[in-house]
Amino acid sequence: MRSATRTRAVSAGCPSACLEAAFVLPDSNVEFGPAMPHKVFLTRLKLSDFRNYATAALDLDQRHVVLTGENGAGKTNLMEAISFLSPGRGLRRAAYADVVRVGAADGFSVFAAVDGMEGPVEIGTGTQGSEEGHSRRLRINGTAARTVDELNDHLRVLWLTPAMDGLFTGPSADRRRFLDRLVLSLDPEHGRRASEFDRAMRSRNRLLSEFRPDPAWVSAIEREMAGLGISMALARQEMLGLLSALVDRSRTDGTFPSARLSLAGFLDDCAGIPAFELEERYLAMLADGRARDAAAGRTLDGPHRSDLLIRHREKDIEAERCSTGEQKALLVGLVLAHARLVGDMTGHAPVLLLDEIAAHLDQGRRAALFDLVDGLGGQAFMTGTDQTMFEALGERAHYLAVANGRVSG
Ligand SMILES: Nc1ncnc2c1ncn2[C@@H]1O[C@H](COP(=O)(O)OP(=O)(O)OP(=O)(O)O)[C@@H](O)[C@H]1O
Ligand SMILES: [Mg+2]
Repeated sequence: MRSATRTRAVSAGCPSACLEAAFVLPDSNVEFGPAMPHKVFLTRLKLSDFRNYATAALDLDQRHVVLTGENGAGKTNLMEAISFLSPGRGLRRAAYADVVRVGAADGFSVFAAVDGMEGPVEIGTGTQGSEEGHSRRLRINGTAARTVDELNDHLRVLWLTPAMDGLFTGPSADRRRFLDRLVLSLDPEHGRRASEFDRAMRSRNRLLSEFRPDPAWVSAIEREMAGLGISMALARQEMLGLLSALVDRSRTDGTFPSARLSLAGFLDDCAGIPAFELEERYLAMLADGRARDAAAGRTLDGPHRSDLLIRHREKDIEAERCSTGEQKALLVGLVLAHARLVGDMTGHAPVLLLDEIAAHLDQGRRAALFDLVDGLGGQAFMTGTDQTMFEALGERAHYLAVANGRVSG
């Protein structure tokens, strides 16, 4: 796959001796701040049989897009459709069968014309015509794509939805997924490593449950797990380092608090230690833990046990102990910092989907948020029930009304 990054992006996918960084920020950018990233924007969006939309077509320009309408109108559905322009199952992580409009004869489809990272591109995706409806097809400029990862060559889509509000207080699996999505947006290989690690770990668990498992076989699987697991841990660590450096550099006026990020739960102290040494350590942990893991029926050490720790930097308290409003503000700050990082690293600002982002903010904070979003240099889609909430955006946005699965300008 072509690297869409502005700089060298070294994959951390090698199973052993991963001494190199997964992502590299250009030094000059670190010192002097990056140039404004190039704007990637949707110029057309067409849906068919997508959730409550039978058909819909929107013509857009490079402005932000504000979608307003009553509860249940179809605002989040439209955002979800745009999220299918990135690999994965979209912002609701839905089963494709649920995405297809109830009563539709075939699957759903999403088409977008995008002024993308490599110039204008037409992207079509969906389950229409696919026999089982478990996977979605992807066509780029009319040609079938080999993998959905090809989307990363043309645009990056990031989102923040109300469903993410429980990130700090919910299970650690949610935070790991959040972190892995951050990593994935810069290093598409991370997903492959994570699923291969998972497969290897399941094999080990199965083997350990057998009476007298073959030790050579267990060792071979553990070696594979060690290579993949350390690559994953390093890629996460590196993403946190980059994000933290960026948060440090772009401390704002305090409208949105900044977060202090760290990882815990698996080789927490791995900074500065060569990858091969970490692999040996993890191998030893796995070998020592065989009897314990066999009794537990699962592997108790590994990157699948890591947790992302988030603290309110100014107050120096854990995010989970912050007020609801502070947590929302921390999350907004984190997602916007990530968006800026993606812009810096790729040279192209991501498309942002900000669902109900303005809902709980006072007027001043809303205006500050819009300026921050606009300052990222990309196209943002924002939703709300009331258009007056978006007044401070003025001419910078295109306003659309959504009602009963129909969009009007
Ligand atoms: N597969 C489907 N087929 C038909 N309708 C669906 C399907 N899935 C969801 N819907 C409906 O789509 C409607 C719009 O949902 P959506 O989440 O987009 O609303 P919304 O405008 O974001 O509302 P809110 O302001 O409450 O967040 C809901 O009434 C939901 O029942
Ligand atoms: Mg909604």
